[in-house]
Amino acid sequence: MVSVAIMGHGVVGSGVAEILLTHKQKLFSNLGEEIYVKRILDLREFPDSPVADRFTKSFDDIINDIEIRVVAEVMGGVNPAYDYVKRCLKAGKSVVTSNKELVASHGAELLAIAKEENVNFLFEASVGGGIPIIRPMNQCLVANIVNEVAGILNGTTNFILTKMIQEGMQFDDALSLAQELGFAERNPAADIEGHDACRKICILASLAFGKHVYPDSVHTEGITDITLNDVKLAEKLGYVIKLIGKVKKLDDGNIDILTAPMLVPFKSQLSNIDNEFNGIMVRGDCTGDVVFYGKGAGKLPTASAVVADIVDCCKHLKARRFIFWADGDGKNIISWKDSVSAMFVRVSGEDAALKAEEVFGKVRFAGSTGELALITEPMRYGDLEDKCAALEEKGVKVLSKIRVGDI
Ligand code: HSE
Repeated sequence: MVSVAIMGHGVVGSGVAEILLTHKQKLFSNLGEEIYVKRILDLREFPDSPVADRFTKSFDDIINDIEIRVVAEVMGGVNPAYDYVKRCLKAGKSVVTSNKELVASHGAELLAIAKEENVNFLFEASVGGGIPIIRPMNQCLVANIVNEVAGILNGTTNFILTKMIQEGMQFDDALSLAQELGFAERNPAADIEGHDACRKICILASLAFGKHVYPDSVHTEGITDITLNDVKLAEKLGYVIKLIGKVKKLDDGNIDILTAPMLVPFKSQLSNIDNEFNGIMVRGDCTGDVVFYGKGAGKLPTASAVVADIVDCCKHLKARRFIFWADGDGKNIISWKDSVSAMFVRVSGEDAALKAEEVFGKVRFAGSTGELALITEPMRYGDLEDKCAALEEKGVKVLSKIRVGDI
């Protein structure tokens, strides 16, 4: 029997406890011994829980219990999760987490501590919810040089965009529904302003390129400025708008990384990924594109990945799973103004099409309700801004600028 503890009994934590209880026999068959939930840390009371007697409000009951070998951190947020996780690792306990904020901000340090203490620090659930992506990238695709990773990494914003596009639902109503369904973060600004997706692409970039990429060095835009007119005009031009986290290694070894809404061509596999589903494309030199798809948020999908990591830790109590990246200083990340992509530009004004061609050369257009959208050739974002300024000088109003994803 292996004793484990769960820190946090919210959406994901309660899912972890539920799976460990309801799938006890299945997990026993796989592991060859029982996983016993000895402690659950939460400040709230859960008198109706089948394991009500195992709840504690004190972290000391976990850190001081030498029988507890594996701890699942599913509290979310950096504090006190960072301190608790660090202390668990230093006490020789393996830790698994679904906490992307923690991994994106302290992953390199926590991996180094785990290495030093010869224990495991696993975080499959931190990216893509129930989709296996960390382990496949770290193990199954290890023979590849991965030069690019791009994905729909936030279930809440994908859910909102889908409801707006397919059902004409208002932004706020779609967000409330995502909150009710348990997809959204405690503070949903992290979802809609792109920070959650940014943290996830930082984790994938760190894993792919072996150096920590910190969120504050990554340009991030959310979906709050996307309008139904953007959506409609994009559709006329053959695209759907998705919030994308994207990282690419350039020929000089530097990294081009950002999180922003992007136009995804209908022919791309990522264009059909709707609702709370996530999709992640990994471009390997041997495999070509590999796409991972599934539920990126929600109680049981995310808990499924946490439980898989718990089982992995239980199987490797005396051995370390090799997963590691070094600390990073951000010097290898190019400025987002130098990032090159084709752009969707929505404009209005007299003779807008003519004037746009004077500035951008030959472009593709679509128009609706007095507005016009055009797709430019690939260019630096900084150059695009200069051209948009030139267009405004000609009396054309630039209403939105959205990148066209090469995915
Ligand atoms: N708020 C996150 C999302 C939860 O919507 O994707 C899963 O990380």
